[in-house]
Amino acid sequence: MRDPSESPSHIVLVGPMGAGKSSIGRLLAVRLQRAFTDLDACIEAEADTTITAIFASEGEAGFRSRECRALIDALAKTAASVIATGGGAVLNAGNRSAMRDASTVIYLQVEPAMQMQRLAGDDTRPLLATDHPAQQLAELQAMREPLYLEVADIVFDTTQHSPENAAVAMVALLEQASERCV
Ligand code: S3P
Repeated sequence: MRDPSESPSHIVLVGPMGAGKSSIGRLLAVRLQRAFTDLDACIEAEADTTITAIFASEGEAGFRSRECRALIDALAKTAASVIATGGGAVLNAGNRSAMRDASTVIYLQVEPAMQMQRLAGDDTRPLLATDHPAQQLAELQAMREPLYLEVADIVFDTTQHSPENAAVAMVALLEQASERCV
């Protein structure tokens, strides 16, 4: 693992929808006294519309271009921050290398049953607008899991954790990781 003191060391959270990236990221940022950036929220603010509307008007490709720009902008900030990405941000090879270069990457995992529970009734995620969301999530995970693992410095399973507990555990893991590098 790289020495965190040698890089700008943002903390980037990756993982599938429902893993808790935004809720845990916000709490982790408070604990670490860092700014928090939620890429999906940045994309919506910049476009002045919802992700669903962006998918409808520009397609997934248009959304992915916006996602790349939002990630590059977030990583370019000089103050170390906590950044929650969307579940598909790892699809782009340039995004993966930018994350690796500028941050400690935490892959948040979640078991499928809990993921479905957390996402039940959600109508904000266009990729889940299907009659078979569980199957869709499984297919996305099969495709993306190697990419999450490729970028991850730390892997953390959120299934059994509240966001608060997960944030506490993550602070400890980050401390251990930086001690290993000294
Ligand atoms: C997506 C995940 C969403 C959002 C968009 C696409 C994906 O973010 O970026 O709907 O491709 O998995 P969350 O992972 O925060 O739900």
